[in-house]
Amino acid sequence: MKQLFVLALIGSAMLVLTNCDPSKKAAATPVPKMTYAANLQTLIADNCSPCHIPANGGNKKPYDNFDNVKTDIDEIIRRIELNPGEKGFMPFKKTAKLSDSTINIFKQWRTDGLLEK
Ligand code: HEC
Repeated sequence: MKQLFVLALIGSAMLVLTNCDPSKKAAATPVPKMTYAANLQTLIADNCSPCHIPANGGNKKPYDNFDNVKTDIDEIIRRIELNPGEKGFMPFKKTAKLSDSTINIFKQWRTDGLLEK
């Protein structure tokens, strides 16, 4: 009788534990899609200023707006994936590439469908 009780206890403990598995919960919550407003705007303002930000005195193609960034995203990704010193590399004249995680935000935004907000 006591054994049965212990078995039942283990059984219910396992049930509770499997239902509380945090990885299950994470899988159920979809990762929000990236948007220009939430993920790109500040990043571009930080990394592509002043040249592409007219408000900061930039006179290159403005990337302070959704439309231009959306239209040019392939060219933007191509250029930030070049290496410093290669023709066309951006950010212009910098000696280091953007970090992989930053480059991935541009790519993920494209994959997610180039949403504005
Ligand atoms: C120090 C100034 C400077 C910074 C910072 C800079 N750029 Fe540029 N960018 C330029 C110049 C100068 C050109 C024009 C020459 C050329 O095409 O290589 C240019 C051109 C470009 C073009 C081609 C635009 C066109 O008219 O087709 C793209 C795309 C671009 N930059 C992306 C970026 C991105 C993305 C960043 C930030 C990660 C960035 N740039 C940062 C100076 C800059």
